Amino acid sequence: MGSDMKVLALYSTKGGVGKTTAAVNLAWEASRDFRVLLWDLDPQGAATFLLNVKPKLKGGVEALVGGKNSSISAAIRHTGFDHIDVLPADDSYRELDLVLDHAKNSTGRIRAALDIVGRDYDVVILDCPPGSSLVAENAILASDLVVMPLVPSPLSVRALEQVEEIVRASDSKPPLLAFLSMVDRRKAIHRDSVIAIPRSHSGVTNIVVPGTVVIERMGIERRPVGVYAPNTAASLAYSDLWVRIQSVIKAKQRKSKS
Ligand SMILES: Nc1ncnc2c1ncn2[C@@H]1O[C@H](COP(=O)(O)OP(=O)(O)OP(=O)(O)O)[C@@H](O)[C@H]1O
Ligand SMILES: [Mg+2]
Repeated sequence: MGSDMKVLALYSTKGGVGKTTAAVNLAWEASRDFRVLLWDLDPQGAATFLLNVKPKLKGGVEALVGGKNSSISAAIRHTGFDHIDVLPADDSYRELDLVLDHAKNSTGRIRAALDIVGRDYDVVILDCPPGSSLVAENAILASDLVVMPLVPSPLSVRALEQVEEIVRASDSKPPLLAFLSMVDRRKAIHRDSVIAIPRSHSGVTNIVVPGTVVIERMGIERRPVGVYAPNTAASLAYSDLWVRIQSVIKAKQRKSKS
């Protein structure tokens, strides 16, 4: 990856599909080689919780994205993991859409806040709340790549098409990389989807994150899977995904140069 900061948005219009789980595990994968910032954009604060950081922000989210001078540097917290810092979410994130709506340049506030810390991090991961909102528009506009988990079902194909449309409608049109998540190979519909969806949709990789108790345990462990369960199918899937993400970003860089 080049010298300048790269931004990934973990995003889907659908809730509960594995965005936060992927955000935390990809942060850990990236942190082996890079300085990583994970920005928790969800008032539920799940990423903040999983990385064992206190959900407290002085001045709330408005101080980060509302005005001219962003206090993002002061709000960033170290985690217990080397090279992973977190910008935690607290309850004030419930108002984030309103705060953005009232701000000037309302779709570019996250990008502007990140410009301030561009020298301190190589990789920024945005953990987005579900749904389509100004938060999502901001995250897409700030990102070099949108990463989307897909739980195999007809509804998730619909979500994929929605996200494709949202990305296409954005000014920056970052590439979209989707992967199948929470896959249970005992279910015929999952086995079929794993083959059919990557075939019919070019932005879907054949990397599959299995549905497993190893991953469910993250909520108790409050650590990335690669820390407490290295070399499991679950941790290897995220490490493959991180490799794939880097190659998509590199390909995008080559394309923009030529
Ligand atoms: N591969 C998996 N196997 C088993 N459980 C999983 C897997 N991925 C996620 N989960 C569990 O599913 C739940 C939802 O996951 P997660 O919070 O990552 O989804 P999300 O898309 O971020 O949800 P939200 O839309 O609410 O932000 C969590 O309890 C998580 O532990
Ligand atoms: Mg989440």
